Amino acid sequence: NGAAFPVALVVNGQRRELDLDTRTTLLDALREHLHLTGTKKGCDHGQCGACTVLLDGRRINSCLTLAVMHDGAAITTIEGLGTPENLHPMQAAFVRHDGYQCGYCTPGQICSGVAVLDEIKAGIPSHVTADLTSPVALSADEIRERMSGNICRCGAYSNIVDAMADAAGMTDAAGR
Ligand code: FES
Ligand code: FES
Repeated sequence: NGAAFPVALVVNGQRRELDLDTRTTLLDALREHLHLTGTKKGCDHGQCGACTVLLDGRRINSCLTLAVMHDGAAITTIEGLGTPENLHPMQAAFVRHDGYQCGYCTPGQICSGVAVLDEIKAGIPSHVTADLTSPVALSADEIRERMSGNICRCGAYSNIVDAMADAAGMTDAAGR
C-alpha cells in the first residue's frame, strides 16, 4: 500500500535517514534513494552476486533483503571501500591483475573478496577447508569456492583469483 517507514542506515560511515516503502530492497535503497550506483543490479534475485555489499562487516546480497530490516546497521558499498586516489588493497589488486572486463560484476566481486579474507581470518570454514585446525592456505580452489556466489559473465575468474591471492598477501602484510 506504499506506506513509508523511517529507517536509518549508516552507509559508508555516514548516517542516512530514509522514508521507505517496506518492500524496498536494500539494493534499491542504495541505488535509487541514496544514488550509490556502484552496487550493481544483475539478476535481482540472489543468483549473481553483483549486488554484494558489507552489512555490519559481513557480505550480503542486497537484492535479497529489505532495507527496513536493517535499521541502525552499518553498510559498506564499493564507494566506501576506497577512492580513486586511495584504493582499498583489494581494489588495487583487481587493477593490477585485470580482475575484470566489462566491470559490471566488479563491485560485488570486490566487496565479496574483502569479506572472504575476513571470513578466513575468523576461521570460518568453506566446503574446501572443512578442517580449520591448521591455518588456511589460500589456494585457488579455496578462493573459487568462497567466491562461487559471484558470477562474472565475462569470465574474468582466473584474474580475480590472482587478484585475491595477491590482496591476501598484502592484507596480511599491512596487518588489516
Ligand atoms: Fe543480487 Fe544478482 S542482483 S544476486
Ligand atoms: Fe564483466 Fe565480470 S567483468 S561480468
